[in-house]
Amino acid sequence: MDVAYLDHAASSWPKPPAVLEAMQECMLHYGANPGRGSHQMAVKASRVLFETRKQLGKLFKVKNPNDISFSLNTTMALNQAIMGFLKEGDHVICTAIEHNSVRRPLEYLKQTRGIQISYVKTNAKGELNLDDVKAAVNTKTALLVCSHSSNLLGNILPIAELGELCRGVGIKLLVDAAQTAGTVDIDVTKMGIHMLAFPGHKSLLGPQGTGGLYIDPDIELVPLLYGGTGSQSEMIEQPKVRPDRYESGTQNTVGIAGLGEGVKFVLNKTVGKIHAKEWAQTQYLMASLAEIEGVHILGPDLGQNKTAIVSFTIHQTDSSEIAFILDQTFQIAVRAGYHCTPLAHEMAGTMERGAVRASIGYFTTDEELERLVTAVQEIAKHMKS
Ligand SMILES: Cc1ncc(COP(=O)(O)O)c(C=O)c1O
Repeated sequence: MDVAYLDHAASSWPKPPAVLEAMQECMLHYGANPGRGSHQMAVKASRVLFETRKQLGKLFKVKNPNDISFSLNTTMALNQAIMGFLKEGDHVICTAIEHNSVRRPLEYLKQTRGIQISYVKTNAKGELNLDDVKAAVNTKTALLVCSHSSNLLGNILPIAELGELCRGVGIKLLVDAAQTAGTVDIDVTKMGIHMLAFPGHKSLLGPQGTGGLYIDPDIELVPLLYGGTGSQSEMIEQPKVRPDRYESGTQNTVGIAGLGEGVKFVLNKTVGKIHAKEWAQTQYLMASLAEIEGVHILGPDLGQNKTAIVSFTIHQTDSSEIAFILDQTFQIAVRAGYHCTPLAHEMAGTMERGAVRASIGYFTTDEELERLVTAVQEIAKHMKS
């Protein structure tokens, strides 16, 4: 039996054929170093990087594609934004459902740069009260960091309202779009986003080793990495010109070539249609699992808007045990445990056993979801007896 892959929130799989073809084309015909030489192969590699940047700019409504720099994943982009922006003594606000990719760099800066952090609590479904965010602002506040969607609960946070709030009090907004880039509309200008960290390997359908960071043209960050950029090589200092300032070292050309095709796929299908397809399947899965005795579903209620994440518990069973049975007995790949977000588990009340997370992608079929429902029915019956 084929594996039913329901772990798209970690990394999407499979990818559109055009992604694989673009990567093969790069490896076979022009795998040279972009921006390092003026020969035809290097020029072609540079063009492919720029083309992907352009597609990403179109997707996120970024005026100048050079305000987007590539990274290896969301984590690296978040580190660049957080480490590069916050200074000694700054105060930062983030939500209590942030991923460790936000929390750990912040906690590191608390130890090393004396920054102060306010974690604004949500309710058990991940909903944030904007008044609580406003109340956390003080004279030292420089930045608000917020996930666009919780990777445990799937709720979508009100980024445009937060953007307005930030504008009103004169602070910057960094958005972690790990769970929304490619599946929820993002317009950095309209939503008041100053920095946007995103993965290439999830809903943008590119390969692993890709991601990026949009940085508002008025913000200058201290680079995370220093070194060769292929430009202004005579200078001792890191160039100021973008994207070079934030892209030291040879880029993942083959991955970025694949990512470009992933983004084109998303733009062709449209984010709205992708979201609608995944939302309908999410609703089916939630409704079917809710009927099973002993199953408890986390996050927003049926009918509410959310990303394609369905996290659940069965009776009092440890989530890792359930995921193991799903994998070994039923050939269904899901994720269990704490999903790098212990804070969100505290909000949801699942710190003790974690949760099983099934996540849907563009290529998920109804049949795969039916298989999961049948398997959970059997497991729940067995666990009860
Ligand atoms: C909300 C959130 N932030 C950050 C990350 C880290 O993403 P990456 O694996 O691309 O570094 C993830 C990964 O699942 C996530 O869900």
